[in-house]
Amino acid sequence: MRWIDTLESAAASKLPEAVHRYFRQGSAGEVSVGEAVEAWSRYRFRPHVLNDVSSIDLRTTVLGTPVDAPILVAPSTMQRMADPDGELAMARGVGAAGSVLGVSSNAGTSFAELGATGVPWWLQIYVVRNRDITRQMLDAAVAAGARAVVLTVDTPVVGRKEDEGQTVWDLAQDDQFLVNLPAGEWTDDDLDKADDLNPDVIGWLAERTGLPVVVKGVLRGDDAKRCADAGAAGIIVSNHGGRQLDGSIPTAQALPEVAEALAGSNVEVYVDGGIRRGEHVLTALALGARAVFVGRPALWALTVGSAEGVTRLLTDLTDELAHTLRLIGVPAPSSLTPDLLTTR
Ligand SMILES: Cc1cc2nc3c(=O)[nH]c(=O)nc-3n(C[C@H](O)[C@H](O)[C@H](O)COP(=O)(O)O)c2cc1C
Repeated sequence: MRWIDTLESAAASKLPEAVHRYFRQGSAGEVSVGEAVEAWSRYRFRPHVLNDVSSIDLRTTVLGTPVDAPILVAPSTMQRMADPDGELAMARGVGAAGSVLGVSSNAGTSFAELGATGVPWWLQIYVVRNRDITRQMLDAAVAAGARAVVLTVDTPVVGRKEDEGQTVWDLAQDDQFLVNLPAGEWTDDDLDKADDLNPDVIGWLAERTGLPVVVKGVLRGDDAKRCADAGAAGIIVSNHGGRQLDGSIPTAQALPEVAEALAGSNVEVYVDGGIRRGEHVLTALALGARAVFVGRPALWALTVGSAEGVTRLLTDLTDELAHTLRLIGVPAPSSLTPDLLTTR
């Protein structure tokens, strides 16, 4: 059996049930989480033949940072539930694979410790109602060497999870996910996610940090354009792994519209959600993504194999991508085009 396909059940046997459920689950009726993987597998390939594929080069850059392959790790909270070293182990695994790490604003490791690893990382931020909190977190991330700010925009309120019994919140200690919250007497209202954001927040973040701003959670071309006009350097086509608005369209379906809206601009397009195979990565790149992010598989790999598990996940996906590029007759990701695909 393919190692990546063993990860979820191997992780389940190591984790408390409530934590495994938290990693796996979607919101509400779990329609979107259930559709995400299948949506990539719906595409069919129209391969080229008689092209020289003896040498495959997967290296690229993301916002100027060189990576060995266009496969990055999505920000996710509760990594210290997966491995005692949490984000530090994730960072080591990502670094060994020559990739980039997304770091959740609800991380269980301090930004300073992550920065000290030297592994390139992007801060994911939820702007909260009390902007003092957000400002202090941004400043700490900049001081620790974050290379970009990823603004999550699909969560003005947190998607409802239909849990019964014990949940991850019954088990989690603050030092597993709130390490980077600035010191202070904060109320729940201070900490609630801001629900009054508009595109001006992109310029505010760029100005505060001096970093490129990547907007995560865009599913429409018109919104992508609004973000670009407001100064975004990148867009992540994402429905948050089906964890916020249930029933939102699969990212495999949303990506072509966003890529088309941003064609000819300098804005880099990324995608996440349901990417589990080299064929899915290739499909995403052909549809216009510069790179993909993986979420749950990285958490499962961290649970099962710590840093080495994360490295193996990324290198296995990279090997599959190279193999698939050979079979489709295209030697470099930058030459992938939508005409290589058709829908079933
Ligand atoms: C357990 C878990 C925690 C997550 N935490 C965050 C988070 O703190 N911030 C965020 O922007 N996205 C978060 N995400 C969403 C991921 O960044 C990503 O969008 C999603 O997992 C991609 O889908 P995939 O898991 O199918 O690869 C989380 C996802 C999971 C599974």
